[in-house]
Amino acid sequence: MLPYANEKKEEIVNEEPYEYDKNAKQIKWYDAVLLNRTLRVAIGLVLLSVLIPVLLYQYIFVMTAERPPLDGFSTGSCVIQRSARLPCGSGNVSQEECHPQCCYDTINKICFHRYPSRFSYIFQQKWSEDVILMPRIATVPYNFQESFKTMKLSIDEISPTHMSLTFYDPQKTSLSGQRIENKMYSYEVLPTEMDISVNGPQGRLFSTLRGPLIASNNIWEIAFRVTNESIYGLGELPLKEGTVKVIYNHDGGLNTAPLIYAKLNGSYHGVLIEARAPTEISIQGENNVVVRSITSDGLKLHVFVGPKPADVMNDVRKFIGSNKQLEYWMLGAHICNEIAETPEEAFEDLQKFVTSASQEKIPYESHCGTTPIVFQNEVCLDSGIYFDKGGELLKNASKKVIGHVSPHIIYGEHNSTVSEDVEKSISLNESCVNIAHDFNEFIIREPNSFDVYKGLIGNYDVLYPDYENITEEFLQNIWAYNTELDGVIIENIWPLDESVKDHEAKYLSLPYFNKNFETAFNQTPQWNCTRPNGKTYYHSHNDYANNFIDAVNFASGGIPTWASNQWRKGDVMINRQNISTSWTNLRKELVEAALGGISGHWLWSTPICGDTDNYNNKTQIELCLKWYMAATYMPMIKIHSKSVAKHPLAFEGTDRRLTINALNQRLTMLPYFYTTLQEGPLLRPMFYQFPSSESLKDLTTQFSVGDNLLIVPNLTPSQSHVHVWLPPGSWYEIWSGFKLKGEEGDAVTMTTTSADFLTLIRGDSIIALQKDVEETADKTRLQSSFSLIVAIDCHFVNITNEFNNTIQQKVCEASGHMYMTNNMSLKFETDTRQLKITAVGDDFDALCDTDKAIWAHTIKEINVYGLDDKDNNYDHHKHIVRTINLCELENNEDITIMIT
Ligand SMILES: *[C@@H]1O[C@H](CO)[C@@H](O)[C@H](O)[C@H]1NC(C)=O
Ligand SMILES: *[C@@H]1O[C@H](CO)[C@@H](O)[C@H](O)[C@H]1NC(C)=O
Ligand SMILES: *[C@@H]1O[C@H](CO)[C@@H](O)[C@H](O)[C@H]1NC(C)=O
Ligand SMILES: *[C@@H]1O[C@H](CO)[C@@H](O)[C@H](O)[C@H]1NC(C)=O
Ligand SMILES: *[C@@H]1O[C@H](CO)[C@@H](O)[C@H](O)[C@H]1NC(C)=O
Ligand SMILES: *[C@@H]1O[C@H](CO)[C@@H](O)[C@H](O)[C@H]1NC(C)=O
Ligand SMILES: *[C@@H]1O[C@H](CO)[C@@H](O)[C@H](O)[C@H]1NC(C)=O
Ligand SMILES: *[C@@H]1O[C@H](CO)[C@@H](O)[C@H](O)[C@H]1NC(C)=O
Repeated sequence: MLPYANEKKEEIVNEEPYEYDKNAKQIKWYDAVLLNRTLRVAIGLVLLSVLIPVLLYQYIFVMTAERPPLDGFSTGSCVIQRSARLPCGSGNVSQEECHPQCCYDTINKICFHRYPSRFSYIFQQKWSEDVILMPRIATVPYNFQESFKTMKLSIDEISPTHMSLTFYDPQKTSLSGQRIENKMYSYEVLPTEMDISVNGPQGRLFSTLRGPLIASNNIWEIAFRVTNESIYGLGELPLKEGTVKVIYNHDGGLNTAPLIYAKLNGSYHGVLIEARAPTEISIQGENNVVVRSITSDGLKLHVFVGPKPADVMNDVRKFIGSNKQLEYWMLGAHICNEIAETPEEAFEDLQKFVTSASQEKIPYESHCGTTPIVFQNEVCLDSGIYFDKGGELLKNASKKVIGHVSPHIIYGEHNSTVSEDVEKSISLNESCVNIAHDFNEFIIREPNSFDVYKGLIGNYDVLYPDYENITEEFLQNIWAYNTELDGVIIENIWPLDESVKDHEAKYLSLPYFNKNFETAFNQTPQWNCTRPNGKTYYHSHNDYANNFIDAVNFASGGIPTWASNQWRKGDVMINRQNISTSWTNLRKELVEAALGGISGHWLWSTPICGDTDNYNNKTQIELCLKWYMAATYMPMIKIHSKSVAKHPLAFEGTDRRLTINALNQRLTMLPYFYTTLQEGPLLRPMFYQFPSSESLKDLTTQFSVGDNLLIVPNLTPSQSHVHVWLPPGSWYEIWSGFKLKGEEGDAVTMTTTSADFLTLIRGDSIIALQKDVEETADKTRLQSSFSLIVAIDCHFVNITNEFNNTIQQKVCEASGHMYMTNNMSLKFETDTRQLKITAVGDDFDALCDTDKAIWAHTIKEINVYGLDDKDNNYDHHKHIVRTINLCELENNEDITIMIT
């Protein structure tokens, strides 16, 4: 054993005889003092009475007998401000369990790292990809396990604004990062005790701050800091001290890439944690981020320079991929009902719903059919008969069918003895297949066994196929339906397993395991199951979702797919699942959607009023109505009823009116949403949209919707007013044209009612709406005429007149565009006097062809905001009724309309 591993720390208030290192060559004066018991007590008391009151305010520290460590490297200090301490090992341990190379705070009972930490990797020469790093301490603060004896660091310069750092075990792989010429970042890896920093134009983007770097069996850890200003991400706005997230797909886990945005000197950069293994990210004091992974392979981090949040997002999208599948109908409302008990009832309910919805003119785009699709172990010819009947009904009503599919297979009732032998016997019914029997080789198995693993959902035993190398034959066999689906929403993708988990074995066999991991492991398959290829399940659990998504895409020929979770997969749309109905969750959904969008997933769907069965149709109506209004601005929406209906037909009178109005208003705004989603996320946090505005950055009370709209929701019951913190520029209330007065950062109070949802439009923008909505998005797009909102922004510019005098002149402008197809957009521009419309592209068929047109081609009205009062014909705006045929642009350069 290495000598340093024997070093014991000593404690001044400890009355026990000291063990001290007999090898220590130099005994310092204070060591001598400590050896004399009487003196020790006396000095101890002096120290206690003088020092502690002085230091207690900021520092609670443990006096250790500070001898320089025998290896000659840095001593490291225990006198660290409490907020900056990094937990050593799991931190919350007894003094005996605290590794001697850490510090122990006897008052708060916390084991923490020295500064600099002694748990680092060391190397002598200049760093390069080939340099072998060696642990300074032979054991790690997790069960005193041995440190990996070697480690390597590979730095990959991926693009001028994106680099990655990979710490890995050279016994397992070998990496070599690429180097590029022009880049906006520089980095340093300093010997001897490794210290890594990455710098960008705005300052230090990333620094390990000489914190711990730990590599051992089933535990790798790194700590770093990205800024001393604010950070955002992981579903939190801002991301605060004490937040802990586990990257291990589970119900309630992260839906999007684990990306942290950091603000520094007026710019933004980002760090993405790429972890396949179960990984915990915890935010400690002073923005220190600690990443701990239950892995034996390594850790990988990406740094994105920015300098704008949008630059970070674009780099992330290049890395994780992005969805190119947005079709107009996908923006309409999706409905799913899981209320009926039997397939017959479900079909009747669906019939009733389709008929009433059409009578009541309730707009919706698609339906999940009679029931969500759940695979059965015994698949027979008639298994899908009701679903197919429902599918036909929906198609006849011109609605799309979006199947809801889960990855598991129902094996049988949990307490039924009959199913025990099903697996071994071939089904009696000739027209049925028995999946567990016929496709045994694809099913996840019990730990170290050949028996299939049975999870539990409700009262049913379920099997989990491993979809990694699935065959077409397998997919055809579990699929009992003939309905052609228009899309698939994957549910319970983690996958779900409600069987009771015993965590004791994990605590015993994993060096690091805690409550946070317990939560993540609780509702997923038993961690130590065996995959068909013999590998242990939990290491690659995060791949399960991706594999199922790929299998669905493969089987369906690539129809649109939504899933609640994924791992580093930007091309799948997110569908939030298991959101319970509460005011808190409504606000959280807005934050999550906004952060999800800027983390790369623009196509993001949330369930209106949540999608669990806890909805109370008596006490939560006001909340549910507000949720309908908020959902107007969500990238995608779903109305999912479990046990209690939440769709508009479940409401009565004014309440029903309000739900339908909200859905209609969404259809009205879809041309703007569709345009926005071609270029960026729809819902955006303030710091993303206004990165230079210091006073807005942490707000969760208002959100941007694209570049031109701002929503300021009233999200508490019976709220009578809202405060708008004004972003730069001028802002008008969207329906009236009322101009908000104030400067950037001012709070403006607006009255509101429970039927309102304050929406503002930015001066200097023009958006197109479609007000006469139809029952689907596609139909509205084609049949409803456009209505333009022209929100003018006036400002003064200095011009020089003929006498060389500078004079100020008022200039009023607005511009905007509307995306229609790849090869067709409309451009709108105004000055104070006129509006000019031009076409960009020449796909006029999409507007003007009698058969091929998908867009309307008539503008019927224009509302102009921001004119001088004398030019208005309403209180706050000028309303112009004029029929404009956009097809004229086929032969004319532009269309011009006088507005004053
Ligand atoms: C520390 O651990 C003890 C038991 O081991 C537990 O009761 C306590 O809640 C933990 N404290 C924190 C802050 O985790
Ligand atoms: C961050 O650090 C810089 C330089 O160390 C300092 O000038 C700045 O005031 C710090 N900012 C905050 C918010 O602490
Ligand atoms: C299984 O258990 C449920 C309650 O958990 C009970 O209602 C049902 O009758 C049981 N079925 C059998 C076959 O024992
Ligand atoms: C798998 O884990 C469970 C519970 O965590 C434990 O009881 C069991 O012994 C483990 N099996 C194997 C083969 O490791
Ligand atoms: C899938 O196939 C690949 C390549 O043959 C193999 O490495 C992997 O272990 C297989 N996975 C499973 C779950 O069988
Ligand atoms: C509330 O839901 C229950 C259960 O679906 C239903 O019986 C009842 O009629 C609903 N009440 C109202 C007011 O819609
Ligand atoms: C216009 O000129 C005035 C002084 O004549 C100056 O204060 C102002 O900044 C100038 N504005 C612009 C936009 O240049
Ligand atoms: C205006 O100024 C320019 C240079 O700033 C000069 O060349 C020109 O002669 C001036 N004109 C008059 C009318 O003074």
